[in-house]
Amino acid sequence: MSESALALKLRTAVETRDKLGQLLKLPAPPSSADAQALDFTSNDYLSLARSPELRRLFLERVQTAPQIFGSGGSRLIINPQEHTALEARLAKFFNAPDALVVSSGFDANVAFFSHIPQRGDIIIHDEFIHASIYDGMRSSRAHLLVPFAHNNLTEFRRALRETVEGNPGVAEGTTSVFLVVESVYSMDGSIAPLQLMSDTLEEELPKGNGHLVVDEAHATGVYGPQGRGIVAMCGLEDKCLARLHTFGKALSSTGAVLLSNPLIRKYLAGHGRAFMFTTAPNHTTILSVDCAIDVLESSTGARLQAQLLDTSTYLTTMLRTRLADIPQHIICLPTDLYRPISNNVETLPVTTLPTAIISILTQGAWELSAYLAKRGIIAKPVVFPAVPKDKSRVRLSVNADKTREGADRLINAVIDWAREVEAVYMTSNSADRYARL
Ligand SMILES: Cc1ncc(COP(=O)(O)O)c(C=O)c1O
Repeated sequence: MSESALALKLRTAVETRDKLGQLLKLPAPPSSADAQALDFTSNDYLSLARSPELRRLFLERVQTAPQIFGSGGSRLIINPQEHTALEARLAKFFNAPDALVVSSGFDANVAFFSHIPQRGDIIIHDEFIHASIYDGMRSSRAHLLVPFAHNNLTEFRRALRETVEGNPGVAEGTTSVFLVVESVYSMDGSIAPLQLMSDTLEEELPKGNGHLVVDEAHATGVYGPQGRGIVAMCGLEDKCLARLHTFGKALSSTGAVLLSNPLIRKYLAGHGRAFMFTTAPNHTTILSVDCAIDVLESSTGARLQAQLLDTSTYLTTMLRTRLADIPQHIICLPTDLYRPISNNVETLPVTTLPTAIISILTQGAWELSAYLAKRGIIAKPVVFPAVPKDKSRVRLSVNADKTREGADRLINAVIDWAREVEAVYMTSNSADRYARL
């Protein structure tokens, strides 16, 4: 039988993207050799996935928990006591008026942005916000979606002023304006100047119709007192309408919590389709998050946080130094990583904090990743369409179990590769210069 029309269209689309080198594919499952390798791919920032302490806490709790498997249905039908208890704990931990646990950060963003902005409202957002926020915004009733250049305060203020000038309801205070940012951006590891953004929002919209929404997925567990994030570090909890903390990264679980107020929680519980029409997280997930918060509140949490930021600072500083005499068109770091790094993680401005996400920009991202693999280091390429075409990279995610020695191994391998590419450049202008390595 000949191929169906659907199969033909799908296959053509896949093959076209593949030929262009733009097809995002599932990697092969890790081999036994990978288990020995130095892995810089996981967002398990605090290395809790293998933490003996978290394992012990979790196994103890599992022994006595009344239920450990599936929740059995939507929260609207089954609202387990364990889920609401965790929400109360998280609201207190993160110093928020209320909390709603959602199956994933993706669902939380889709639910929030497709339902909370009301007809005619305006969303101003950093151009680099996560795909889930874009998906939510696209199905929202907001009248305007206004992007501004990444972390650029001047551009943000200009976008805000143009919004005020072009929409009488904004100046009158009847139209709400949402400012949407991430505290730490997942691709460049850049940190938003939250305090200045919040101040600007208040200055330009003195009637209180400006609402700050912060996605803290990559800051959770990593920054702030006991890993409560950058909003908490800046003392901006009261200035945020909503904050998202995900469980899938530093907390080594899955799911997320949307921190807001009782009205928004109630509204989403009754309107947020991505929350309402899905099975509530299972009990093991709720237990594991509860235990991960125990770890954050213990001295182990503080030790892991310090270890992570020490290795991240070392890796960034050494890469900067060692890459300095290699042409930037071969390899370089994102602009943000050339900024001074503050040794004191309690100090502001937050934009000088070390970051656990370190991207190495190169058009030879696939080749660098393959080269590192041969040296026993796993670091994955990220290319278009996940990032702009000229921003291909190998993205490193530092975890607390990484040491300065491990960082040195990685840096040496990156430099060796870059030197080999440089040598090829000297002798060839051909497009296959990376492939020749
Ligand atoms: C900034 C940001 N927000 C939201 C999400 C989605 O979270 P989850 O993985 O829990 O769906 C991610 C995950 O990649 C993220 O990086």
